[in-house]
Amino acid sequence: AAGDLHPPAALALLDLADAFVDFNRQSAKGVDLMRGQTVVNLFFENSTRTSSSFEIAAKRLGADVVTMPVASSSVKKGETLIDTAVTLNAMKPEILVVRHASSGAVDLLSQKVGCAVVNAGDGRHEHPTQALLDLLSIRRAFGDVGGLTVAICGDIAHSRVARSNVALLQMMGARVRLIGPPTLVPGDADRWGCEVFHDMKEGLAGCDVVMMLRLQLERMAGALIPSTREYFRFWGLDREKLAWAAPNAKVMHPGPMNRGVEIDSDVADDLSVSLIQDQVEMGVAARMAVLAALAHRRAGGAA
Ligand code: CP
Repeated sequence: AAGDLHPPAALALLDLADAFVDFNRQSAKGVDLMRGQTVVNLFFENSTRTSSSFEIAAKRLGADVVTMPVASSSVKKGETLIDTAVTLNAMKPEILVVRHASSGAVDLLSQKVGCAVVNAGDGRHEHPTQALLDLLSIRRAFGDVGGLTVAICGDIAHSRVARSNVALLQMMGARVRLIGPPTLVPGDADRWGCEVFHDMKEGLAGCDVVMMLRLQLERMAGALIPSTREYFRFWGLDREKLAWAAPNAKVMHPGPMNRGVEIDSDVADDLSVSLIQDQVEMGVAARMAVLAALAHRRAGGAA
């Protein structure tokens, strides 16, 4: 989990990831840091960014990579998460990268296998490498994270991105505001150490970073879903609402975006304010840093 890091470790990962950004911009990108090691991607929930960036990251570090096609695996014959992980572990990979719809599933699985396990998102609980890439994007845009005010807006209640970002942003000295309708802000949010707002104009005032979240409908079974038009009117980020933030505010979104619901294309695609494509680029570098740190630890280096 993002909160399990301590500030020097988070800083070291950010610095390493930063170096990988420049490395990735070269035409020849391969290194041998993970030669002979195997990384298995095991995603029980859909993914575009996280799955592909872990695969690219591992390949750039020289590892062998297997991305399990869960939809055509023996999971469909009733094999459990734990049995699947234990089976893959018996093939002696060094790292399992796991995404699962249940909060806590990745931690549970890590207790059953001998290899390292990286959390690629578990339910609404945590998405630590997303927070790392978000911090890297913010640091590269502003020079530092400390002292900034970051607004996380929308469906906080169902968001693992929000939980990991709150932990890491606060650890690195940012002030975090949570902005959303009362039904989408968790009841215990006041204990997260954030200011909570139920009004975009009030909450965005003076913010340096505006991080938008989509409505995570896959975790809302049985809930009353707002109409998308009504949601956009009150909570969707457009030019008018962005003008309430600080003059040089940057816009972020972990993706996938639902355009016209939580964010207007006009804002999302304006590269003078939007960091969304940078976030995707930083995703590869941040995941390279995490994999390289695990490989280093495996080789007997300090964590
Ligand atoms: N941000 C994120 O986790 O995106 P994917 O679901 O596409 O991996």
